[in-house]
Amino acid sequence: MVHYSGQTPDMHREHELNLDMEQENISLPTDREPVLRLTPLPGDVNMHGDIFGGWIMSQVDIAGGITAARRARGRVATVAVNAFVFKHPVLVGDLLSLYAQVVRVGRTSLTVEVEVYAERGVPDTEVYRVTEATLTFVAVGADRRPRPVDPDPR
Ligand SMILES: CC(C)(COP(=O)(O)OP(=O)(O)OC[C@H]1O[C@@H](n2cnc3c(N)ncnc32)[C@H](O)[C@@H]1OP(=O)(O)O)[C@@H](O)C(=O)NCCC(=O)NCCS
Repeated sequence: MVHYSGQTPDMHREHELNLDMEQENISLPTDREPVLRLTPLPGDVNMHGDIFGGWIMSQVDIAGGITAARRARGRVATVAVNAFVFKHPVLVGDLLSLYAQVVRVGRTSLTVEVEVYAERGVPDTEVYRVTEATLTFVAVGADRRPRPVDPDPR
């Protein structure tokens, strides 16, 4: 763990906590459109009443897959989940917006970053950036084998 100069581990934890608090009640991105918008239902909760992480992972995989398939101009398969962070819990009734962008194109693979925002409450809506993930997809043909991605699709 990296400690800031002159700070004890406790001060560092407090600093991290403050950063987390700053992330709450932010705004949705205005420079791009979400790939998916949806709301979790009571059937999607875990034993504690919060939304099951696997449900969120499924939605992230779908949003990333749509984005990768657009860029690859065809079928893709998820080959790896490189990173996945649940920064805030998701609650029943949240309106989730999933934003995704291709950040790297290889010969046959594409790396996609997905961010999930939750809008909570009406009319006094709070916004949380609840999840961020990086996934790798592979462009595949009808035979399910890798196929090259056009490096310059224009
Ligand atoms: C995706 C699949 C077709 C790739 O076949 P493969 O023989 O492993 O492919 P390759 O080894 O030639 O690798 C293909 C690309 O994926 C990349 N890749 C493979 N494994 C990777 C990993 N663990 N992480 C990141 N990238 C990976 C390679 O670097 C390569 O990228 P590049 O062509 O841009 O350089 C095959 O692994 C597969 O069918 N997996 C199951 C997919 C699936 O069912 N997903 C849904 C979840 S069950």
